Amino acid sequence: MTEAVAFDKGTSLAFIGAGYVGGSLAIALANAGYPVVAVASRTFASAQAVAAQIPGSSAFESIADAAARAQFVFITTPDDAIGPTCESMPWRLGQGVAHCSGAASVDVLDPATVRGAIAGAFHPLQSFNSIENGVLSVPGTTFGIEGDAPMQSYLSDMARAVGGNPILLKPEDKVLYHTSGVLMGNLLAVLGSVASRIWEQFDHTTDEGARALAPMMKAVATNLETSGVPGVIAGPYPRGDIGTVRKHLEALSGSVPEYLPLYCELALAGLPFAVEKGALDPERAREIEALVNQYKSRQASRATA
Ligand SMILES: NC(=O)c1ccc[n+]([C@@H]2O[C@H](COP(=O)([O-])OP(=O)(O)OC[C@H]3O[C@@H](n4cnc5c(N)ncnc54)[C@H](OP(=O)(O)O)[C@@H]3O)[C@@H](O)[C@H]2O)c1
Repeated sequence: MTEAVAFDKGTSLAFIGAGYVGGSLAIALANAGYPVVAVASRTFASAQAVAAQIPGSSAFESIADAAARAQFVFITTPDDAIGPTCESMPWRLGQGVAHCSGAASVDVLDPATVRGAIAGAFHPLQSFNSIENGVLSVPGTTFGIEGDAPMQSYLSDMARAVGGNPILLKPEDKVLYHTSGVLMGNLLAVLGSVASRIWEQFDHTTDEGARALAPMMKAVATNLETSGVPGVIAGPYPRGDIGTVRKHLEALSGSVPEYLPLYCELALAGLPFAVEKGALDPERAREIEALVNQYKSRQASRATA
């Protein structure tokens, strides 16, 4: 049984785990007027680096001491450490706790709730690769929120206060929601890396490729936001340019065959969207599909030979 304790913008916050997400959210929330009073981490230097950027906040060597200072504690360690960290802490009745994992549900915080704390989850649907970039990326970010009704209300207000958009999630939907985010945030980064690396095949560097391709990635993001699905789909596939597709498949087979399966799978996944958009004739789509599958199986048999 949990106490109906109301958290609000005056509720003091502690962060346990001073990495990309913990550091970014602690600074963004402090900038938005939330009292971030304590930071602790596995390494004291990480906690000090974050606390130094937040007036009124202190770094603690001990996680328990940091948590004792605040009415609400964010556990922003790697996913696998959330449960053990929560288990190791001395919770008190009515204290709040949240993690920021997209894959874990709120029940990973059960060791706190059995001791009278009130738990929630506050997942930023964003890619964080540094604290500096992370703080800048928080406005406009969607936050996946779990918890009871007062917790949902508190965390939703918090998301809006940093310029974000709250959405409420059921525990059973969390993994698919997170899979969608990883496809976009993490695997898109892999695609960007692969596309950039291809530049080394024509006497340029991967860095030059990355600089040249990043504006395209931004334009695609704008097109996705403004035109939606399938409107965002563009290029030789919806145009039905089968000759161009054949040239790509030949070039990849000859120069970087290890990237051919990725190209083929994405091309095949895109064909139904191109048809749905009304840009690609279904008969032409079947021709392209057959061509791509031909290169895909040829590459698969080479790889197993
Ligand atoms: N990165 C993303 O794009 C992203 C996006 C959305 C959500 N998330 C979620 O945010 C959470 C944190 O991820 P992150 O990317 O910020 O990870 P991270 O940069 O690796 O930061 C984790 C921090 O926790 C500290 N730490 C590790 N084990 C600890 C322990 N047992 N006790 C206390 N502190 C510990 C780390 O060590 P030191 O103290 O040694 O520095 C580090 O400062 C995860 O739940 C993740 O799923 C991440």
